[in-house]
Amino acid sequence: MDRYLCYVTLCLLGLGLLETNAFEVEIKDSSNTTCIYANLRINFTVEYETSNGTFKNVSFAAPDEVNTEGSSCGQSDVAPLLNVHFGNGNLWSLNFTKNDNEYRGSVLSFTYNASDSVLFPDAKEKGLVISTTNTSFFVPVPLNSSYKCLHDDTVTTPHVVQVYWNVTLKAYIDDSAIGKDFTCSADLPSTTQSPTTHSTTIPSTTTTPQPTTKPVDKPSVGNYTVLNGTETCLLASMGLQLNASLLVEGKNVWTALNIDPINTNSSGTCGNETALLRLTNGTTVVEFLFFIKEKNFHLQEVNVTLFNGSDFSSKTNLNLSLWEASLGNSYLCRKEQLITVSEDLYINTFDVRVQPFNLKNGTFGTAEECFADSDLSFLIPIAVGTVLVFLIILVFISYLIGRRKSRTGYQSV
Ligand SMILES: *[C@@H]1O[C@H](CO)[C@@H](O)[C@H](O)[C@H]1NC(C)=O
Ligand SMILES: *[C@@H]1O[C@H](CO)[C@@H](O)[C@H](O)[C@H]1NC(C)=O
Ligand SMILES: *[C@@H]1O[C@H](CO)[C@@H](O)[C@H](O)[C@H]1NC(C)=O
Ligand SMILES: *[C@@H]1O[C@H](CO)[C@@H](O)[C@H](O)[C@H]1NC(C)=O
Ligand SMILES: *[C@@H]1O[C@H](CO)[C@@H](O)[C@H](O)[C@H]1NC(C)=O
Ligand SMILES: *[C@@H]1O[C@H](CO)[C@@H](O)[C@H](O)[C@H]1NC(C)=O
Ligand SMILES: *[C@@H]1O[C@H](CO)[C@@H](O)[C@H](O)[C@H]1NC(C)=O
Ligand SMILES: *[C@@H]1O[C@H](CO)[C@@H](O)[C@H](O)[C@H]1NC(C)=O
Ligand SMILES: *[C@@H]1O[C@H](CO)[C@@H](O)[C@H](O)[C@H]1NC(C)=O
Ligand SMILES: *[C@@H]1O[C@H](CO)[C@@H](O)[C@H](O)[C@H]1NC(C)=O
Ligand SMILES: *[C@@H]1O[C@H](CO)[C@@H](O)[C@H](O)[C@H]1NC(C)=O
Ligand SMILES: *[C@@H]1O[C@H](CO)[C@@H](O)[C@H](O)[C@H]1NC(C)=O
Repeated sequence: MDRYLCYVTLCLLGLGLLETNAFEVEIKDSSNTTCIYANLRINFTVEYETSNGTFKNVSFAAPDEVNTEGSSCGQSDVAPLLNVHFGNGNLWSLNFTKNDNEYRGSVLSFTYNASDSVLFPDAKEKGLVISTTNTSFFVPVPLNSSYKCLHDDTVTTPHVVQVYWNVTLKAYIDDSAIGKDFTCSADLPSTTQSPTTHSTTIPSTTTTPQPTTKPVDKPSVGNYTVLNGTETCLLASMGLQLNASLLVEGKNVWTALNIDPINTNSSGTCGNETALLRLTNGTTVVEFLFFIKEKNFHLQEVNVTLFNGSDFSSKTNLNLSLWEASLGNSYLCRKEQLITVSEDLYINTFDVRVQPFNLKNGTFGTAEECFADSDLSFLIPIAVGTVLVFLIILVFISYLIGRRKSRTGYQSV
């Protein structure tokens, strides 16, 4: 009996040592179904002002004993929320946001209790201090996947540094789907460029990046829609190719990426003055924002988020004036066009037809063709016309000559 107790104690001690400062929590809904799971370690460093006016840093770790009061699975219009209370009034809190394909942390806030005389014995200001950030510590993750990261990740806000590691985190858990793991880039073998590690084979193009721009096929044209309720309020059809200077094996390489319509989802919003088309292809997101000016619409903002080397990068151009057409009509351009998003990111567009406003019955209105197209379509009839006129004149002249010749012929007889 004693031996058994001893064994259990040792075992607990051993586990305790191994698992020190890792908390594991599950949030359940009213029907006891888990919607959020988290298992991670956090080290906090807080800089605070002491009573004599100097600054001091205190470091502590989130313990394994926590409670999750106030957490919730959320509803359609309320974000899921994970609250982790520990120690003497400290609260680490994260809510989540998702789109059709991915979810991520929305706002991360950490509240510490400066009245705690153990951690902050000489704090000048007592009471609760909140530090909030929306640069969340984990990247967008495909729905039904768990975010996993063994490596350290750091989130810094004024006066607070949080270091995370051994993270497993999953929100919007849907038991009907078999989840995959989404491994953070820091955990990936350094030779792969793929942001996810499922044990699928990595296409050779990603493992052998060419230092020179490789010729790529024209992208396929995709049909994209945005709905307002059940009604189509934005219609677009185009082929898209991103051309970005990406970090590949320590070097910047111009890389062309075709947006494959087959695994691209469209979403967005339709408003009275603006309309947004968001295309999501894996972890790549391209956003087009259309504006109305007088009786015309145009493309004004483009925002591209993609995986670059080891992290996500967002590039935006807020000052475009492209793809203009009258309200009620659609914009059409068959020719290849170039959109400059930033100096390290361009979009080549092909066969664009787009109508972000005033759709009738979910179909395109009259097409207004771009200059590049009309240029040619003007020239062709002009060229044909010129040739025709020339031919007519030629026929007429030969007729005149022929008539004169035949007259002189008659006379000579
Ligand atoms: C959920 O689980 C808890 C503990 O396991 C139990 O007390 C409770 O009755 C369950 N609730 C429902 C709705 O099943
Ligand atoms: C976390 O804090 C503990 C104790 O201060 C330290 O030993 C450990 O190295 C820290 N871990 C990280 C990843 O910063
Ligand atoms: C201020 O207080 C801290 C501890 O409370 C002490 O270590 C430090 O020496 C003090 N500084 C001055 C300038 O008195
Ligand atoms: C506290 O730590 C932060 C980050 O490590 C550092 O920038 C700051 O200078 C430190 N403050 C003090 C008073 O040591
Ligand atoms: C903060 O710490 C003080 C002192 O230990 C305690 O009285 C107070 O209840 C704590 N605040 C919260 C919100 O727990
Ligand atoms: C998360 O909570 C913050 C307030 O703490 C709120 O401003 C934000 O909108 C929430 N995120 C979502 C997706 O609802
Ligand atoms: C896109 O729509 C056009 C016109 O409705 C249709 O001809 C074409 O096949 C569609 N393309 C795809 C990939 O669905
Ligand atoms: C991508 O951009 C670079 C720099 O402007 C250019 O040299 C290259 O030809 C472009 N590639 C494609 C496929 O458009
Ligand atoms: C990718 O990262 C490299 C290195 O940080 C940077 O030079 C380049 O501009 C980035 N490209 C994009 C499109 O963000
Ligand atoms: C979206 O639908 C609502 C309700 O049918 C309507 O009032 C609104 O005008 C529509 N908005 C657009 C941009 O079509
Ligand atoms: C661009 O898109 C990213 C990701 O969706 C977002 O975080 C960022 O705020 C957007 N930037 C602009 C200027 O809209
Ligand atoms: C709208 O489209 C449907 C199906 O394409 C068609 O049956 C209907 O007649 C159209 N309505 C109008 C007003 O054009």
